[in-house]
Amino acid sequence: MNPVISAAQSFSDKDNIIILSNRDNYEWKSEFLSEHEVEYVKQAAESETSRITLLQSGRVVVVQFLKKDDDINKQREYSRKDGCDVLETLRRYRVEELTILDKTERSLMLSYAEGMALGSYQFLKYYIDADKRKHCLKNIGIYGATEKEAEELSIVTEATCIARDLVNEPLSYLTAPKLSEEFAEMGKKSGFTLEVFDKKKITALKMGGLLAVNRGSFDPPTFNIMEWKPDNAKNKRPIILVGKGIVFDTGGVSLKPTNHSMDFMKSDMGGAAAVGGAMYAIAKAKLPVHVITLVPATDNRPGKEAYVPGDVITMHSGATVEVLNTDAEGRMVMADALHFAKKYDPELVLDFATLTGAAARSVGGQGIVCMGTADDDTKNKMKKSGYTVQERLVEFPLWEEYKELIKSDIADIKNIGGPVAGAITAGLFLKHFTDYPWLHFDIAGAAFLHTPDSYRGKNGTGVGVRLLFDFISNY
Ligand code: BES
Ligand code: ZN
Ligand code: ZN
Repeated sequence: MNPVISAAQSFSDKDNIIILSNRDNYEWKSEFLSEHEVEYVKQAAESETSRITLLQSGRVVVVQFLKKDDDINKQREYSRKDGCDVLETLRRYRVEELTILDKTERSLMLSYAEGMALGSYQFLKYYIDADKRKHCLKNIGIYGATEKEAEELSIVTEATCIARDLVNEPLSYLTAPKLSEEFAEMGKKSGFTLEVFDKKKITALKMGGLLAVNRGSFDPPTFNIMEWKPDNAKNKRPIILVGKGIVFDTGGVSLKPTNHSMDFMKSDMGGAAAVGGAMYAIAKAKLPVHVITLVPATDNRPGKEAYVPGDVITMHSGATVEVLNTDAEGRMVMADALHFAKKYDPELVLDFATLTGAAARSVGGQGIVCMGTADDDTKNKMKKSGYTVQERLVEFPLWEEYKELIKSDIADIKNIGGPVAGAITAGLFLKHFTDYPWLHFDIAGAAFLHTPDSYRGKNGTGVGVRLLFDFISNY
């Protein structure tokens, strides 16, 4: 369990506290510090030190000097990182509970707590001595936050950690049917409903893309439909989220060509984790928005029945696709889900996928490549959410000239483009299956990190959950 965040109504001189302060103004001092301690804090404030820890009979008092910046988003991010950094100190003193007090004029306590909660994440399931390794922080109180702010933050950080768990689970546990069970569990805890189509139903619906990718697999595919439809929904027509649920990507018969590129392909369901995690948070926070989420799920591997380059596949939409690389499997399963979305007459469709190495190479782990047909207002709101939660978006163009690159000699469209613009041709492939306002988010770079990055940690990041929650809460 990650630490729970709540609003603190009061605190006593027995409670562990973290005081967020400006470096040049600590008027709050007489309330908490002895004369001797004031002198100590003053010295620290005048030096480069960003944080000092005082031990007062039986409790820990941390004074955290927050960095200033005119850009509130940058300031929020600095606070998240500071919140993550303080964890090491808290562990040393085995702190289980604490209260954050914000003495700065720009309320940064929520971001600070967010960094603490997300930075506390651990994936210990497979360690024999998991209990010993477990960190002990359990409760973060925020003095001065509203109940709603604190609860929503607690929910969205929990949801992000659930998404991280899903990404970190290997195929030996998380097959496509297992992913559906996980969604069922998440639905029970948060309130969304889940319907799962099995292979028979998927076959009856002629989801040719999903079935083609699944042909080399031992496990059957699943098609997951999650729904959150509150009575007070603001939207008449649903928002639809779609997530790529490739639980492992070997590349199939076009086996992954580069050294080590397969090692972390358990993360190829990062899109599914993002939209599933977002659904969990949206439902648990009871946001007044009607949202439906679609996740086509399977692994992609070679096998005696596996689809091969040259195959022509008839998709759920009826369009034909010439497969020239079985490693471009994400777009095959996403296309079927995007076509399926049409039947709901959606107001907006947002899809999340670890779709291309090209997107990962373009922006690395710091951003998300996005593109689509939604109007500028929607795009701008989405970009704003990106800056707010530090899951920043870079828009790529869907210029129609690129369409030349996915023309096939024998079918309506082919599943790879040329050597350039790989993220864009993948986006154009998806666009072929949409007829509604739509945005595509290629999270190939940000879904899984190979080196630790502050509160985002290492391995699965849960990217997309906070972005979607922020966007939907402001919808
Ligand atoms: N899952 C990969 C994309 C990926 C790459 C995700 C790196 C995360 C990190 C996807 O299915 C894939 O293999 N794409 C190919 C497409 C190509 C064959 C047209 C790629 O990007 O190389
Ligand atoms: Zn692939
Ligand atoms: Zn893939």
